[in-house]
Amino acid sequence: MALKTPIINIMTKAAYKAGNILIKDFREVENLQVSKKGVGDFVTSADLNSEKTIIKILEKSYPQIKIISEETNSDTSLDEHEKKWIIDPLDGTLNFLHGLPHFAISIALMVKNEIISGVVYDPIKDELFWAEKGVGAYINDKRIRVSSRNQLKNALVSTGIPWKGMENSHKNYLKILENIMKSSSGIRRYGAAALDLAYVAAGRYDAFWEFNLKTWDIAAGSLIVKEAGGYVGNIYKNENFLYTGNIYACNNNLVDELKNKFII
Ligand code: IPD
Ligand code: CA
Ligand code: CA
Repeated sequence: MALKTPIINIMTKAAYKAGNILIKDFREVENLQVSKKGVGDFVTSADLNSEKTIIKILEKSYPQIKIISEETNSDTSLDEHEKKWIIDPLDGTLNFLHGLPHFAISIALMVKNEIISGVVYDPIKDELFWAEKGVGAYINDKRIRVSSRNQLKNALVSTGIPWKGMENSHKNYLKILENIMKSSSGIRRYGAAALDLAYVAAGRYDAFWEFNLKTWDIAAGSLIVKEAGGYVGNIYKNENFLYTGNIYACNNNLVDELKNKFII
């Protein structure tokens, strides 16, 4: 078992505490599904409570580290020499809203534009995916590695499908989807990008791709994939996926085959 650094311990503490809040609120959301009032406001407040809880714990131990978080401090512009927390307090909001038990908390630490620590916590399954640069990737206390499948035709691939309001991207997305569905063994859309990446790291999925994600969706997960021996890259050349959100991840055997499917 890897020895956790104080940084990862604090990130874990924050994720667990926020996870407890989300679990309680999720049970309520399940009850509210059929109510006329709807559950939108309730989910927004669960999201904000989770974020507040995480920030409070991180700031108490490390007041000097800048916070980037989806709900209240979402400016991701580059400023080279800072340390930053990058937080998604609830990834998979739509699942949460619909009572689907698949969502997570994602917290990463970036130092000089590089992610060096990350946790993705699924409170429903009590699975903490975490990694530190150079130390490897883990689920709870167990070391994880990406899968070893070496042909796309045997691969299970996950993705995020664009929705209304993103019409510009629908045509290209559908072409790529067609390319990949024709050559893989199956495709999944579970609705929480941080967990999609964590599942690639754990060898559950062989690959993942999505467009237009935000830094907080992928910061922690991308490190977890790399530390599990996998590859994370840009769909388009000369971009940085952490900022454009156009990302793919897979084991190293599948990189070339998958990369070709993005050429349309
Ligand atoms: C979303 C999820 C989803 C992805 C969306 C994200 P949110 O994050 O990660 O899987 O397809 O693009 O915005 O809004 O639930 O935190
Ligand atoms: Ca998210
Ligand atoms: Ca979110």
